Amino acid sequence: MIKQEAPPLHHRKRQLVANIPVNKYTKSIASFIILLSFYFLGYFTAPVVVVQPQQINTIQQSTNPPAVVDHNRFSTQCVNPVAPQLVRKTILDRVFNGTSPWLNFPPAHVIPLLRPRRIKGWGSNGAVFETLIREVRPKTIIEVGTFLGASALHMSELTHQLGLNETQILCIDDFRGWPGFKDKFLKDLAMVNGDVLLLQQFMQNVVHEKATESILFMPFSTSSALEKLCEWGVFGDLIEVDAGHDFHSAWSDINKAYKILRPPGGVIFGHDYFTSADNKGVRRAVNLFAKLNNLRVQTHGQHWVIHPAADTT
Ligand SMILES: C[S@@+](CC[C@H](N)C(=O)[O-])C[C@H]1O[C@@H](n2cnc3c(N)ncnc32)[C@H](O)[C@@H]1O
Repeated sequence: MIKQEAPPLHHRKRQLVANIPVNKYTKSIASFIILLSFYFLGYFTAPVVVVQPQQINTIQQSTNPPAVVDHNRFSTQCVNPVAPQLVRKTILDRVFNGTSPWLNFPPAHVIPLLRPRRIKGWGSNGAVFETLIREVRPKTIIEVGTFLGASALHMSELTHQLGLNETQILCIDDFRGWPGFKDKFLKDLAMVNGDVLLLQQFMQNVVHEKATESILFMPFSTSSALEKLCEWGVFGDLIEVDAGHDFHSAWSDINKAYKILRPPGGVIFGHDYFTSADNKGVRRAVNLFAKLNNLRVQTHGQHWVIHPAADTT
C-alpha cells in the first residue's frame, strides 16, 4: 500500500477551507463575524476615543469649582503684637521716617486750596461707635476707609469724652475716593492736576479739630497697608471696615483686618451691611466670612458687628 505523504501544512489549511461547503449561510455568517471584529477593534466606536482626557478634566472642573475655602487663604503670618503704647511710634518710624506728618501742616502752597473744615461722611456718627468704644475701651482703633475723616473724628471725640486719652486711631485710605465722587459730593473742593486733595483736606480737618495727637494715617491701598500692619505687629482692639464696597474689596479687607484684630476681646465692624450698592457686596462678604469662621454677625443700625470672643466662649 502506498502510503500517501501528508501535504505541507500551508497546503492542508487551503484544503480544509476548500472542503468546507460554501453556501449562502456560510457567507452571511462570515460577513457577520468580520463586522463584529471591526466593532470590537474599535473602528465603529472611534468617535468616543476622540474625547481627550484633558477635555474631560476641563468639563469636570467647570462643574465642580474649587472649594470656596481657596479664596480664604490670606497667608501672611502676623508677628506678635507690639504694645499699644508703641503703635504711634511704629507708624511714625515705618511710614513717615520718624517725622510727624502733622509738623508744619498745611504747607504754604496748599493753604489757599483747602477749606478750614470740610466734612462729609456716611453714617459716620452712628450710635454703634459709642456702643463699641464704651464696650471695648480700645487702645488702638484701626479704620479701613476714612475719606474726609468724619467717622475717625467722631471716634476721637468719643474716646476723649470717655477718658480714653491714650487711644490711637489709625486711618487707612489711599485718599483717592472713587471715580466720579467729586462731582457728586465735593464739587466745591479744588482739583489740582487731577489730584482731588482728599488727603490734604482730611489732614486739615484733623488739624482743625485738634485731633492730631490721637489720629495718624497710612495713605496707601487698604490691602498693602493691612499687610504691613500684620508684618509690623500693629493690632487693633477695634477695627472699622468701610473702604471698597464691592464683594472682592470687602472680602479682602475683612480677611486681612481680622488677622490684626487683637485677641481676646477685639471687635471688628463695618458700614453698609444693608446697602444694595455693589450687588450687596459688603453683606455677601461679611456673611461668607462669618460662616467660614464660625462667627455670628450682629447688626447695629446700618453696621455689621462681629465679636469673636463672644462666639468662642
Ligand atoms: C465710604 S468712604 C469712608 C467713609 C468714612 N468711613 C466715614 O464714615 O466718614 C470709603 C473710603 O475708602 C477709600 N478706599 C476705597 N477703596 C480703597 C482701597 N482699595 N484702598 C484704600 N482706600 C480705599 C476711598 O478712598 C474712600 O475715602
